Amino acid sequence: MQELVYLNGWIGSFEDSLISVNDRGYNFGDGIYEVIRVYNGVPFAVADHLERLENSAAAIEMSLPWSKTQLAMFAEDLLVQSGIREAMIYIQISRGTAHRDHHFAPQIKPNLLITVRQVPDIAPAMYTDGVKIITQPEFRWQLCHIKSISLLSSVLAKNRAAKAGAAEAVFVMDDGTVTECSASNIFIYSNNTLLTHPVNNRILNGITRKYVLQAARSLGINAREETFNVTDLLAANEVFFTGSVAEVVPVIKVDDHIIGSGVPGPVVRQIHTGFTTLRNSGV
Ligand code: PDD
Repeated sequence: MQELVYLNGWIGSFEDSLISVNDRGYNFGDGIYEVIRVYNGVPFAVADHLERLENSAAAIEMSLPWSKTQLAMFAEDLLVQSGIREAMIYIQISRGTAHRDHHFAPQIKPNLLITVRQVPDIAPAMYTDGVKIITQPEFRWQLCHIKSISLLSSVLAKNRAAKAGAAEAVFVMDDGTVTECSASNIFIYSNNTLLTHPVNNRILNGITRKYVLQAARSLGINAREETFNVTDLLAANEVFFTGSVAEVVPVIKVDDHIIGSGVPGPVVRQIHTGFTTLRNSGV
């Protein structure tokens, strides 16, 4: 088993991979990305990830020289070569290499990076005991639907969470609306209803979010894509966040406020099990 890098057709180790300091991803954060979870050698929801990648490309006025089929093939080949069964595939496409100038030439050729790595260890206690999150003012831009590699605000928010001994930071707008977390979507369960922010420019259209909603609905849970505010968040019976790597994570504390009875509730557990069944059935 070996963690591997694909860079514009070259394949090798992380240590040996080289890219120009004029890469616009490096200079401007001018690029897009995807993170795909691989379970037992099979990438999960590849079609969804590649569709979102194409949407992100279109949103930043980047035309991709590769089809979704080609991208899937490059990633699959790298995965097979790595021999890793529980993996994370990272795909990054930067605008390309050019002398530093904010504006970009239309003919610039994108740089394609794909990596295959082992999934990081996740402590089982995260699921059995739940985690703490902190609130942060929503200081990101208005294009959160783009999976952009310009992640400075997420980096700052997540780092503040880590310093506070928390697993995530959740963004709250000036009017109190809760959008999402620094690298995950957030859900609340109250009054027999599951709520998560609707898909628009304020959140990333999470793929785990999509399948969690599907799993919840097939369990007969009333799941709605509607905004909720920080008061609703603190008063919720259950809170959890979702993402491709950690899947479904119960939240038991927001800042200094205990959620529900301070332990992961039955609904989050039921939903996580439902999600696992759904992804094992192959999407
Ligand atoms: N983060 N919201 C944001 C801002 C994210 O960065 C992510 C994913 C999600 C969840 O999306 P999905 O379920 O498709 O993974 C929501 C990835 C994993 C990352 O940046 O590493």
